[in-house]
Amino acid sequence: MKTVKLIATAAMGLESLVAKEVRQLGYDDVTVENGKVIFNADHHAIARCNLWLRTADRIKLIVGEFEATTYDELFEGTKALDWEQYIPENGKFPVVGKSHKSKLFSVPDCQSIVKKAIVEKLKQRHGIANWLEETGAEYKVEVALLKDKVTLTLDTSGAGLHKRGYRIGQGDAPLKETLAAALVQLTNWRVDEPFHDLFCGSGTIPIEAALIGQNIAPGFNRSFAAEEWEFISSSVWDKALEEAEDLANYDQPLAIYGTDLDPKVIEIAKDNAIEAGLADLVSWKQMQATDFHSQEEGGYIVSNPPYGERLGDKKQVEAVYQKLGKVLKNYPTWSIYILTANENFESLFGQKASKKRKLFNAFIKTDYYQYFGKKQ
Ligand SMILES: C[S@@+](CC[C@H](N)C(=O)[O-])C[C@H]1O[C@@H](n2cnc3c(N)ncnc32)[C@H](O)[C@@H]1O
Repeated sequence: MKTVKLIATAAMGLESLVAKEVRQLGYDDVTVENGKVIFNADHHAIARCNLWLRTADRIKLIVGEFEATTYDELFEGTKALDWEQYIPENGKFPVVGKSHKSKLFSVPDCQSIVKKAIVEKLKQRHGIANWLEETGAEYKVEVALLKDKVTLTLDTSGAGLHKRGYRIGQGDAPLKETLAAALVQLTNWRVDEPFHDLFCGSGTIPIEAALIGQNIAPGFNRSFAAEEWEFISSSVWDKALEEAEDLANYDQPLAIYGTDLDPKVIEIAKDNAIEAGLADLVSWKQMQATDFHSQEEGGYIVSNPPYGERLGDKKQVEAVYQKLGKVLKNYPTWSIYILTANENFESLFGQKASKKRKLFNAFIKTDYYQYFGKKQ
């Protein structure tokens, strides 16, 4: 099978996690750059990466790369690529673009040049004299310029990979599923240990933990743009789905809890968990975070509490952080992981973190404060 060059795009700060996941799928030839992980693989990787990558945003296929500083070079470079290998006669191919530190900085112009070049090439190779109908499957093209280097890709994912298909409702400030999965993967949690989100909102962190706990492929319940593509045999997708079914461990018992002060979001979390096929696997309860108690040892708390960014909320939120610090001191064997934008978190919580990691939640700069529990 022909080798393809793929890009798994990643949110800022998550590149190394995405690379680790790509390697775990068996693709070793990996290069990590800002916002992306690049690797060579066969067609099976398109299906497997879309299905399995928990922390990547989308999977793009590189059609070609070249230098261009003039529109002529962009046109000729684009036209020289083998578009007909990918896009059939009736394929729909909208072109999106971005340009950074490049001579060709007008994105709309770059998009229309690329579109024209692909149209010409396809008409020539498919032997069509007239208009291309574009009534078939979608092959979204991206022209990305960085320091005059052009990268032309096809988006294999369609909707972003954070759209797992289970979030039918959401609370006020839901976490992206890809970031929630990253928060879980950045802990040392093992599936037989207790796991608690004290500010669960619509349940994203506990749901992602349960999917990880039972080794369920996060993309199992959705579709991808490339499923419709002719040059990828449907057996590639069948095989990947079969593999995901074989590897899922639906009998794995879990001790995952999601609690929140707001009873409405608990109902939303329950519905989302049912949609994810996890019905009774997560225990949901309305609870004040500072009322946490547990008889168990060595558990994990992974939470994304409110940051208190809205006027008037800050004092209230900081009081919760302070009280939480006092309550959780009674659980020295528990590991605690808190994502917040509040820069005074450690002093409010009353303890210096064992480790901190900078992460972006949407466009908010946050820190992931990690407190490692004492070994029992
Ligand atoms: C940023 S949201 C969490 C979003 C969640 N990760 C999701 O993906 O939907 C913060 C949550 O903390 C809850 N909350 C605020 N104060 C609380 C408290 N004192 N105890 C428990 N939950 C609280 C809010 O109801 C809200 O759902």
